[in-house]
This record gives sequence, structure tokens and C-alpha cells, in this order.
Amino acid sequence: MTAADLVPVVTIDGPSGTGKGTLAVLLAARLGWQCLDSGALYRVLGLAAARRGIDLDDAPALAALAGNLGVSFVGGRVLLDGADLGDAIRTETAGMAASRVAVHPGVRAALLEWQRRQACPPGLVADGRDMGTVVFPRAGLKVFLDASAQVRAERRYKQLREKGLDANLPALVEEIAERDARDRNRAVAPLRAAADAVMVDSTALSINDVFDLVVEEVRRVFPDQVHEVAAE
Ligand code: C5P
Repeated sequence: MTAADLVPVVTIDGPSGTGKGTLAVLLAARLGWQCLDSGALYRVLGLAAARRGIDLDDAPALAALAGNLGVSFVGGRVLLDGADLGDAIRTETAGMAASRVAVHPGVRAALLEWQRRQACPPGLVADGRDMGTVVFPRAGLKVFLDASAQVRAERRYKQLREKGLDANLPALVEEIAERDARDRNRAVAPLRAAADAVMVDSTALSINDVFDLVVEEVRRVFPDQVHEVAAE
């Protein structure tokens, strides 16, 4: 048993563009829990490696960097060595670099304990690819969120455009497919649903529908944690 097992944890895993991040933030706010965006860790590592001129195939150098990553999350911002990374972390280039550094077992091992330490009272909502399978295998509630590849690419396109970032839909469809294939087929902690995960397909659902559905699950698993919010 680890310290993480003593704190209620909800894991949200799935491929990119399913709305995991938005759902995790909304759910954590609703519950008053901490939120772990584990993808951001891999994105920061990819960016930090590029800035230091480390090759994304150089497993030992990347593992060493991961073990010493000066990353912090302040509000909605992600800082590297105290400097705000801004929107650089949300670009598809950062996502692609993240998925390349994430294949190395030494990198994943170096980031494991840091992630587990985020499980602090009163609870944690953690989103990623291996939250329910590897990082928090004893989480009380595991959600696996999926959606069709076309809908995921369209959502990512809209998200990037809303941030004023460059986006091209056909290129995104290809990039998402490439990233999914790498995430699903890597040897260590591949993207897959935990055997005890609740499966949610968000292809035809709005984020509000998904949120309501998952809050119902949280209510079932952690009945004392969901407090009714008075209607306005
Ligand atoms: O979720 P996000 O798109 O930010 O993740 C970026 C990449 O980081 C993913 O494509 C995946 O390769 C990697 N990742 C991972 N394990 C996690 C979270 C993200 O391998 N728990």
C-alpha cells in the first residue's frame, strides 16, 4: 500500500482529444480535489529536451532530465525552472515530442513517484494514459474516455484555434493517428483501459453530458464526496 491508496482518486485515461483534460479540471473543481494533468509532464519534458538540444531518442539523457525536471503547476499555468511556458505546451509539436519521450521506460520510471505524490487530501483527479493501469492501480474510480478519431481531431482543431494557435485539420487527423498508434503500441504503460474502468464514448456527447455521467459514477463510488450545489 502506498500513500496514494489512502486518498480518494479518480483516474481519467484515454487517447488525445477526448476531452479528458477539460473533464478532469471540471471534476476536480466540483469536488474541491487536486488535479493532475500527467500529459503536461511529458510535454514539459519534450520541450525541455528540445531546449537543451537532447535528442528525443536519447533514453538515458531524457531519463536523467526527467529525474531533475524543475516543473511546477501554478493555477492553470505550467512553469519550467520558474518560467511560464505559456501556450508552447499546448501545441501539437509539444504533444508529438511528449509522445516520443513517453516511450522510454526510464523516463516513465523517473516521473512515477512525482505523480503519486500528487495524491493529497481531500482527493485527486488524474488524467493521462496510464493513470488507472500503472500510476494509481488502486484508484476508487477509473474512467476510460474515448471518441472517434475524426471527432477528436475536430475538437483539437477547435481548441487550438480558440487559443489563436496554428491548426490544420487534415494534418491534425494524421498527427493524432500517429500519436495514438505510438501510445497504444509502446512496450511500457501503453494506452489501454484498466480492466475495472468505466468506459465512456464521448463521440456523440457534449462535455456537460460526460461530466454529469461521471459525477453520477463518483456519487456511486464516493457517496460522501459529492455535495449538492444549491440551484441558483
Ligand atoms: O494528454 P496529452 O495530449 O497532453 O499527452 C501528451 C502525450 O504524453 C501523449 O500522447 C502520451 O504519449 C504522453 N502521455 C503518457 N502518459 C500519460 C500522459 C501522457 O505517455 N499519463
